[in-house]
Formats: sequence, C-alpha cells, structure tokens
Amino acid sequence: MLSNLLIYCRAGFESEAASEISTRAAELGFYGYPKFTANSGYILFHIQAPQSALELMKVLKFRRLIFARQWIACTEPLTQVSTKDRITPILTAAKALPQSAELLVESADTTEGRNLNGFARKFSSALAGALRQSGLMLPRKQRADWRTHLFVIDGQTFWLGVSPIKNSCRWEQGILRLKFPPTAPSRSTLKLEEAWHWFIPKQQWQEKIESGRRAVDLGAAPGGWTWQLVNRNMFVTAVDNGPMHKDLMESGQVDHRTEDAFTYKPAKPVDMLVCDVVEKPSQVTDLMARWAINRWSSILIFNLKLPMKQRFAQVESCLEQLETALHEAGLNYKLEAKHLYHDREEITVYLELG
Ligand SMILES: C[S@@+](CC[C@H](N)C(=O)[O-])C[C@H]1O[C@@H](n2cnc3c(N)ncnc32)[C@H](O)[C@@H]1O
Repeated sequence: MLSNLLIYCRAGFESEAASEISTRAAELGFYGYPKFTANSGYILFHIQAPQSALELMKVLKFRRLIFARQWIACTEPLTQVSTKDRITPILTAAKALPQSAELLVESADTTEGRNLNGFARKFSSALAGALRQSGLMLPRKQRADWRTHLFVIDGQTFWLGVSPIKNSCRWEQGILRLKFPPTAPSRSTLKLEEAWHWFIPKQQWQEKIESGRRAVDLGAAPGGWTWQLVNRNMFVTAVDNGPMHKDLMESGQVDHRTEDAFTYKPAKPVDMLVCDVVEKPSQVTDLMARWAINRWSSILIFNLKLPMKQRFAQVESCLEQLETALHEAGLNYKLEAKHLYHDREEITVYLELG
C-alpha cells in the first residue's frame, strides 16, 4: 500500500503545498497529515489507511494543485542504504509499484539537491538497467500509465515512487527549463512563456497565441511580457507609466500608453490580456473580473503577488472572489492557477472565457 504522497515545490513554499494538499484531499474524503522541513523543496502527505496515494491520484486532478510541481506515490523511505549496493533495496521496494517504462532520478530544487545532480544522472542509467533486467520496468517506448521516480535526499536516503503519466507534470523535477531570449528586456519574460507552455496545449498555440492577434499588457515596463507577445506576431497595447525598452518600440507592434492599469479601457475587445502589475492580489483580482465581465479579452493571464503570510489562504480567497463574480455574470470559463518555476513570490492565473 502506498500511503505517502511526495510533492515537489519551490523551496520556501512547503507550508502552502502542505495546506493545499490537505484541503484538496479532505474535500474528496481522503484524510492524512503533511510533514515537511522548511526550505527543503518538498513535502510529504501521509494518507490514512485504507486509502492510498494511488487512489487519491485517481480522483484529484494534478492541475488543480497550484503549489505542487510534481507528485509521486511512494513506498516507505529507503534509509541508511549501503553505498556499496544501493540497487538491491531499491529493486525490492520497486516490487510494490505499478508498471512503468521510464525512470527519473531526481532531487529537490535546492542547493543541496543540485549538488546531487551528478550522482542522480549516473545512478539513473545503472538503476534503469537493473530494473529492466529484473523485469521490474517495461522496455523503453512501451506504453505505460506510470513513470517511476527515485527522489534522492542524500547518497543513502531515497524515496521511490510513481506518477500517473496523464495526471502529473511531464517535465523532469516538475520544472520547465527555458532559455532566456538575449534580446528580451527583462527576466520576467520567461514567466509568460512558461505560462503558455503550462496552460495552453501546443496544438492550440496557432489559434490562441500566434499570427497577428491583439493583446493588452498591463504593467508592461520594461517589456519582458510584451517581448513575448511581439515575438509571436501580436500587436500589443502596453500600459505602464514606466519606460518601455527602445528596441521593442521599434518593432512597430507596440502602442505604449502611459496610463493607470486600473482605469485603462480598451477601445475594442482584444484576444489576450496579460497583467503583471504589482498590487494587492484582491485588487488585481477585481480588475481581472472587470475585464472578464466586460468581455474585453477572451484569454486573461495574470500574476497574483504573494509577499504576505497566509499565502495559500490569500490565493483561495482571490480565486473564490473571481469565480463568484464570473458565476454572477453567467460566464462559462476555464480557470487554472500555478506557482510556475519562473514565479517567485507570486502565482500565475489563466482564465479563458467560453
Ligand atoms: C513586475 S513589473 C512588470 C514587468 C514586465 N511584465 C516585464 O516583463 O518587463 C510591474 C510593472 O507594473 C507597473 N505598475 C504598477 N502599478 C501600475 C498601475 N497602476 N498602472 C500601470 N502600471 C503599473 C510598474 O510601473 C512596473 O513597471
């Protein structure tokens, strides 16, 4: 029985990830308790028998979790593993896991975790070979519903588990690594690019974010997000009192308005609204509700800044406030939120109107 759910998160957000999984699991009638060390980059949620982590993964959508980068259903931890033979105890533990055709050896996204990357890479091929030879893992490329993870705490301590391929994050460590485009005016450019990758399926990119569509960027300066929109051939109204990067303005695709994002109204509805204004999350939520209710844009991507304590409670309250407004306006919509890899003290929200 796999009673442990291990969740990867950004270091410093363990308490949010713990509150979130406890809340979402309880809503589905799964009870347990979280355990974590601050700044470790992961948490454990121990599920009370007779229920198990695999069962929770069947009924809870991974996409519903905001602070989780990845989740794996684990056996009991492997501790004090002999450095002379790490493989044998792992093979024994692997007998309790469902079949998979892929192995990821990972560690936490912390300094300590990064120091284990070299070991993880080397050990990964040795372990995958041993698992296949023992008939505990399917041949590569064979279809499977699960992928195997070995989460390395140190050279002698491991968590072995699985994630459901269709209900988890497809990126190693739950992290999308993007190359910084050298001509982009700010590092935050990667937040918007990652948001597109996470929220919009690739087959919808052409329709939703490419080829001459119109966008508004609220709180646009110096232009990292506008750069992404321009790079995808969009025409952008960039609203910010601050200066926009000169080269971006020379593209001829940007109309810079030195106005207040909270009073600006578009002359005509646009295809995409993005907003990275630094303001209280409830005020940004109100502003987004206004854009949605007036149908000024059919896709809205915005950040909620979370410098305060009680970040999970704050996020829950903002999303509830937004959903109430959308319901009252009788709108059909898809709403998702994620603490993206490139987000720091903030989360990204995706709202698409039907
Ligand atoms: C985090 S920065 C945006 C960075 C931008 N997304 C990028 O990629 O370069 C936040 C911006 O919001 C702008 N801002 C804050 N309050 C605003 C308001 N009420 N109206 C318009 N812009 C505002 C600030 O001037 C600042 O440039």
